[in-house]
Amino acid sequence: MVYSKIIGIGSFVPEKVLTNEELSSIVNTSDEWITSRTGIRERHIAESGLTTSDIAAAAAKEAIKLSGLNLADIELILVGTVTPDMAFPSTSCIVQGKLGLTNAAAFDVSAGCSGFIYSLSIADSFIKSGKYKNILVIGVDLLSRITDYTDRSTCVLFGDGGGAVVLTANFENDRGVLSTHLHSEGGHNDILALQAGGSFMPTSLETLSNHEHYIKMKGSELFRYAVNYLKAVAEEAINFNGLTPGDIDLFVPHQANIRIIEATAKKLHFPMEKVFVNLERYGNTSSGSIPIALDEAYKSGRLKEGQLVLIDAIGAGLTWASSIIRW
Ligand code: ACO
Repeated sequence: MVYSKIIGIGSFVPEKVLTNEELSSIVNTSDEWITSRTGIRERHIAESGLTTSDIAAAAAKEAIKLSGLNLADIELILVGTVTPDMAFPSTSCIVQGKLGLTNAAAFDVSAGCSGFIYSLSIADSFIKSGKYKNILVIGVDLLSRITDYTDRSTCVLFGDGGGAVVLTANFENDRGVLSTHLHSEGGHNDILALQAGGSFMPTSLETLSNHEHYIKMKGSELFRYAVNYLKAVAEEAINFNGLTPGDIDLFVPHQANIRIIEATAKKLHFPMEKVFVNLERYGNTSSGSIPIALDEAYKSGRLKEGQLVLIDAIGAGLTWASSIIRW
């Protein structure tokens, strides 16, 4: 049996911080509203000129260094993102060039906020099939680039950042990805989408003036899907591995809203002490959220070797996903 073991991890967020107080001077909102409805206090925002591939490359550099591998050992780069540098080439190809990963194939994965888990699942399958031994998986988003800072219902939620892991084929023990579980349900463009700029609604002066190049979201509808689907997909992972919630050492959910996290944890009977939360400092960084949280959990000592970690996420599509990893 071969397991995809995480041997390196890194993350990067832009330096600039945007607080709730500062947002309150831009739109009609307040620190009290944002904190009580979402748990978010501040988020990092990329200064102009900083790109998704810059953040991805910085996180990946750290992960590769920690892995002890050489650049030439990386055989595949996967980037989960909905905010690529450009429509093409892919951000993963741009990262390949920036880091000089000369032996790597590269492609992006578009799965909304589930992009990191989807990418992890693809990487795990390539390793299990024997096709590749060493894979770089990145989750990264610069949602500030597609956020309408005149829309208070969305602009308070999002931030920028990314994280990366290096996976390697482990034949020695059962440390690594135990399973991944992916789902999708189309037909929800009215709930969460960025509609303009593609073949459906090509860029025009009208789309620009209607702010259609920005995220549009019906938050309260999405909230209901989030709580139900995240509970189901977490249970699916736990049951698939013959575990109970009590066997999980740390639950690292997608960092979208503290109320979604608390409601899901309650439904799963997870005490909050076993749930990793850092959204108060980053907001929702989409595909960046889970690898940033895993990196913090590991480097702060909350996630230790041999422990079982459960991750789950839901995002545009809808897509939702989970995985259990023996760290
Ligand atoms: N400040 C003050 N008031 C606000 C703000 C704000 N920033 N935003 C909305 N309001 C108002 C609304 O206008 C509404 O006022 P009304 O009652 O007078 O009409 C009121 O607050 C309540 O609005 P709701 O949308 O019902 O608020 P809710 O409690 O649902 O919280 C939120 C909104 C935080 C967006 C929540 O629904 C949520 O987190 N949804 C899920 C988002 C999510 O999971 N996204 C993940 C995927 S994102 C991705 O893939 C990129």
